[in-house]
Amino acid sequence: MAAVLVAHAGKSGGTREIAEVIAEVLREAGLPVDVRDAADVTDVEPYAAVVVGSALYRRRWMPEAVSLLTEHEEALGRRPVWLFHSGPCGPLAAGKRVSLPVGIALLAARIDAERTATFGGRLTPATARGLFWKVMASGPWAGDFRDWPTIRAWARDVGRSVRIRVTL
Ligand SMILES: Cc1cc2nc3c(=O)[nH]c(=O)nc-3n(C[C@H](O)[C@H](O)[C@H](O)COP(=O)(O)O)c2cc1C
Repeated sequence: MAAVLVAHAGKSGGTREIAEVIAEVLREAGLPVDVRDAADVTDVEPYAAVVVGSALYRRRWMPEAVSLLTEHEEALGRRPVWLFHSGPCGPLAAGKRVSLPVGIALLAARIDAERTATFGGRLTPATARGLFWKVMASGPWAGDFRDWPTIRAWARDVGRSVRIRVTL
């Protein structure tokens, strides 16, 4: 049985890659981990702890991540849950904190989730859809702003906390 579920939702793979790195760090800490697309999660009961991450699109979370939190709210409330979102790109992306969309903040409060982490995103002309974002993706907002040392450090903190709070 896996101890930790890392569920992710995005459109262009950037958030999935963050989830995979988080899983790698948790495994390095000796924790069994499953990484799943949020859309494929049917049950969280097998997991002692859950991490849910979404890409930000137009200030919103991906519907698949929202559904996961909504449909499993009660079960998530009975286990430690960490949330992260990925999005900020450009010169001001480093260290930027984005508040949870209101609906997600309410869900997070009901689940009693840990404070949400914001990670930079990746925006390239290839991943941007729509004219506006294609233009954005060819300017200073273009690039990969995912800060791997920060992501790894956060995952190590999650791993430590899981080890303290959960009997495996
Ligand atoms: C159409 C569009 C809308 C976006 N909206 C936001 C936003 O509201 N806030 C934000 O921080 N990033 C926003 N971004 C940046 C994405 O969140 C970023 O590219 C992220 O890494 C995408 O993750 P994914 O590859 O998993 O889909 C947007 C990107 C696009 C193309």
